[in-house]
Amino acid sequence: MADGQKQRVFSGVQPTGKLHIGNYVGAIKQWAGIQDQYDTIFCVVDLHAVTIPEAIDPKQFRAKILEVAALYLACGIDPAKSTIFLQSHVPEHSEMTWLLNCLAPLGWLYRMTQFKSKAGTNESVGTGLLDYPVLMASDILLYDTNKVPVGEDQKQHIEFTRDLAQRVNTMFAGAKLVIPDPMIPPAGARVMGLDDATAKMSKSTAETRKGHAIGLLDTPAQIKKAIMSAQTDSENEARFDHAGPGVRNLLDLYEVLSGQDRAAIEAEFHGQGYGKLKKALVEVTIAALEPIQARYQELTGAQDYLGDILRQGAERARSIAAPTLARLRDAMGFVAP
Ligand code: TRP
Repeated sequence: MADGQKQRVFSGVQPTGKLHIGNYVGAIKQWAGIQDQYDTIFCVVDLHAVTIPEAIDPKQFRAKILEVAALYLACGIDPAKSTIFLQSHVPEHSEMTWLLNCLAPLGWLYRMTQFKSKAGTNESVGTGLLDYPVLMASDILLYDTNKVPVGEDQKQHIEFTRDLAQRVNTMFAGAKLVIPDPMIPPAGARVMGLDDATAKMSKSTAETRKGHAIGLLDTPAQIKKAIMSAQTDSENEARFDHAGPGVRNLLDLYEVLSGQDRAAIEAEFHGQGYGKLKKALVEVTIAALEPIQARYQELTGAQDYLGDILRQGAERARSIAAPTLARLRDAMGFVAP
């Protein structure tokens, strides 16, 4: 087991799209909160971000990778407690992926819903899109990960990782891959789109639909605009268990960002017209993002510091990943270098 008796946690964010309040509330803030309890490793999964090659703009891509790394830190991931690194800095991810590719049944990959929805019937998509789950399994398995904090939408990928690990362990007993469990965030931490509360707030949608999301780096004016135009309904219902999806989303966000309890929130906003709730939400959102944005600004002026953190992170990551890869290579019969 990792680091004394602590269980190991691994998660990652793709450096694509626009990081938003849903990523903060549903993921990064949760991660920051478990750093003492677990041996935590947080990766910027840049290799995953090239599976849609048409979307790569090299200059923007490089900036985005560093932006996500800086936002990890700005949101409270502490390099003294957690390992923070870029996936492409640890070559074991790619080598592990090759070995696991040869052990992963093609049928399992064709059945993944993310592949089906992204590829459709288009035969010219990159092979990496099909292979995405194997790279993700490599990320997780290389670190003997016990728990993987991810949203509901990633559950199938964790199931795939578990099935693949079990299969490898059966084929090559010496591999001893650790079977990971998903760690799904609490219900209130799932933020829906402001413009359409039937779908989860999404980084890629946020790029194209203004008013869909609150970006972590949005200005107070942008935050205000997005929240004030958020979808509600024609009722006056601001009770958690009775509100329509749009209002419920605003209530949930207000609850996590204000730290107030539900009874107090309902007492303040129920039957009032939604303008009051929205204005209050604008305030708590701006207040919550202010320190994050200030720390982010500091980090953009300290690229050397960020570079050092990422180098140290990659070094520690390699010191864990390399022995796991060696274990699998040995179990399969490769000759030790
Ligand atoms: N597929 C994940 C997502 O889109 C990102 C990811 C890649 C990941 N590798 C991972 C998450 C390993 C957790 C663990 O959200």
